Amino acid sequence: MLPADTLPRPHRYDSAVMYPVAIHGRTIQIREIRSDDAAAIARIIGEPEVLRFTTWKGPADLDAAEQFVRAAQETAAATPRIEYTLAIVARDSGEVVGTGGIRIEDQTGRVGSLRCLLHPDWWHRGIATDTARLAIAFGFGTLSLHRIEAEAALDNLAANSVLEKAAFRRNAIRPRHHLAPDGQLRDSVGYAVDREDWAAAERDR
Ligand SMILES: CC(C)(COP(=O)(O)OP(=O)(O)OC[C@H]1O[C@@H](n2cnc3c(N)ncnc32)[C@H](O)[C@@H]1OP(=O)(O)O)[C@@H](O)C(=O)NCCC(=O)NCCS
Repeated sequence: MLPADTLPRPHRYDSAVMYPVAIHGRTIQIREIRSDDAAAIARIIGEPEVLRFTTWKGPADLDAAEQFVRAAQETAAATPRIEYTLAIVARDSGEVVGTGGIRIEDQTGRVGSLRCLLHPDWWHRGIATDTARLAIAFGFGTLSLHRIEAEAALDNLAANSVLEKAAFRRNAIRPRHHLAPDGQLRDSVGYAVDREDWAAAERDR
């Protein structure tokens, strides 16, 4: 059962009030990125296992993390706000365990995209699945999106599984579509979930 403030509410989107975002899950909180998150983000993007499935070529150091934080803060202050790059925080310790978010790709058609990176110390605890579900509820409920898309490397089994558990459907296999940081082209999978599929999946959960 979804909390009342995440139920679908079409036509309520107002970019002027979309700051600060704070979404409370059972074990995680998703909140705006702060300047003092840079060291934690440097640890996350400094992990080769995390970068393996991104397009980021580095360097993945504190300077890069500080740039990442500044970019997240600038886009958070933009009007209209189209980029929601957020920190994923463990509720009990307050530790920043990952980053993720939603970007509005098509404002008129209300289409967004989803992404998520977690530090490997926090993998296999269901955090990405929780993050995806909370972010989707935010996208449909608060941002009034109609469809949310995501893309993952075909061999990124964890990401494929997270998306499928969060009600996304595969809609394309894209051969040699993902440019990995090592310069290799990998096959990728396109996913999407629409408001109706999401509402049905939440009812059945
Ligand atoms: C993808 C990622 C976010 C998953 O995070 P996570 O919190 O470990 O995922 P969850 O714990 O929610 O796992 C969800 C499902 O994926 C499965 N899974 C996790 N890691 C897996 C792996 N390496 N191989 C196969 N399945 C895996 C889990 O078994 C789980 O399914 P289950 O609950 O039915 O057992 C994390 O691995 C990560 O940050 N990877 C690097 C960055 C990345 O690839 N981001 C996605 C880019 S699109």
